[in-house]
Amino acid sequence: MIKSQGWDWKIVKDDFKCVWKNPSMESFYLLNRWKSLDKNDFLDLGCGLGRHSILLGRNGFNVSCFDISEEAINRTKEWAESEDLVFDYKQGDMLNLPYEDNSFDCILCMNVISHTDTEGMKKVIGELYRVLRKDGECYLTLGSKDTWGYKENWPMVDENTKLMMVEGPEYKVPHFYVDYELAKELFFDFEIVDIHQVVNYYPHEDKVNESYHYHLLIKKR
Ligand SMILES: C[S@@+](CC[C@H](N)C(=O)[O-])C[C@H]1O[C@@H](n2cnc3c(N)ncnc32)[C@H](O)[C@@H]1O
Repeated sequence: MIKSQGWDWKIVKDDFKCVWKNPSMESFYLLNRWKSLDKNDFLDLGCGLGRHSILLGRNGFNVSCFDISEEAINRTKEWAESEDLVFDYKQGDMLNLPYEDNSFDCILCMNVISHTDTEGMKKVIGELYRVLRKDGECYLTLGSKDTWGYKENWPMVDENTKLMMVEGPEYKVPHFYVDYELAKELFFDFEIVDIHQVVNYYPHEDKVNESYHYHLLIKKR
């Protein structure tokens, strides 16, 4: 299995206009959905700079923040404390989550669990299953094989995984990619409540990159 490598957040400024400081559109839907389902114990797996932890914390969820990057944990904590929000913080690797079985009602993994290889992905999915309660839900994204990066001539780690070779916070971080069939197969043990593909367009150098992700909402049976 490839060695895990988090993002280098030290090179990302704390700018409130930055995408990583503003909650994703999906998180507003999840906030309302999970409130209405009486979900309370929330894990922000791969919390980054904390944009989703803060949103759910402001709305009364009991928030646990987890990331492999110490910088990510520190910056999430600093932001939360500036708003008098009290969260649990743990630094570690998603391949071995430091939580008891059945700890969480809801988990968000927004652009996180693809940062491994095929073997690692199976391990992470096992960990998600273990720490979720029965009927607990997890929303996650997976890089799609339709995306520009999968078509780049980057080093292959295995048939589904490449090393990102763009300078920046995720330089040489592994990226695992799926197609629809593989996405469904991986989450066989869960109920798949929803699966859809999203495309974002990013201007890069002299072209526009099409970035495709599968988004899944899964439930532990
Ligand atoms: C693209 S960022 C997303 C951050 C956050 N989920 C958000 O949406 O703002 C990916 C995050 O996953 C973390 N990460 C990558 N590999 C990890 C691993 N093996 N275990 C835990 N966190 C990891 C990175 O350090 C980074 O903070």
